[in-house]
Amino acid sequence: MKLTYCGHSTFLLETSTHRLVIDPFFDHNPASPLKAQDVACDFILVSHGHDDHCADAVPIAKRTGATIIANYEICEYFAKQGVKTHGMNPGGAHDFPFGRVKLTQAFHSSSTEVEGLNHYLGVACGLLIQADGKNLYHAGDTALFSDLKLYRRPKLDVAMLPIGDNFTMGPADALLALDLLQPRLAVPMHYNTWPLIAQDAPAFAKAAKRKRHKVVPLKPGAALEL
Ligand code: NI
Ligand code: MN
Repeated sequence: MKLTYCGHSTFLLETSTHRLVIDPFFDHNPASPLKAQDVACDFILVSHGHDDHCADAVPIAKRTGATIIANYEICEYFAKQGVKTHGMNPGGAHDFPFGRVKLTQAFHSSSTEVEGLNHYLGVACGLLIQADGKNLYHAGDTALFSDLKLYRRPKLDVAMLPIGDNFTMGPADALLALDLLQPRLAVPMHYNTWPLIAQDAPAFAKAAKRKRHKVVPLKPGAALEL
């Protein structure tokens, strides 16, 4: 299984059978090495409705025929734009051809702007993904909350955690999230896309190491073999 970071909170996940995109934000993501038109995938997972997590979901789904997996409200909204969707809600899991997805709680908002007004798009979520015998957690844009500890069983192979602060948890809270989640490996996300969320990922990794957590910051375009 290969996990490629595309900057911000965007990842490509290649399982033994399928290609997934998590939180597709390519064309207006200054950190992304890819454009939406270059992305090939079978499924698109979306944590919440903010543009920096799903701006390219519908164009990619239209071009590739990929199914979008997200909360019910996002799926209803996207389905009306003519793409395949699979709506879920926190606590619910479903078996897909590539593996199992469970939506988790996340403390954040979820909306999209239409004609200058923000429209509610269901609750923000995190994503637990089981595929090829691995357990992955993409935290979305969540704040720190103590029930993160509920997601540490089964043992997480990888946790993708925001560290940018301002809109999500920052590095200090992400360190506490690592204590609760205890993943084998964590990859920081949602930082350095813009000056407002600039963070020192190597310093975060060092602080995590002092607490016996393994954090691997990935440069956009870099990949992990799992
Ligand atoms: Ni957000
Ligand atoms: Mn965001």
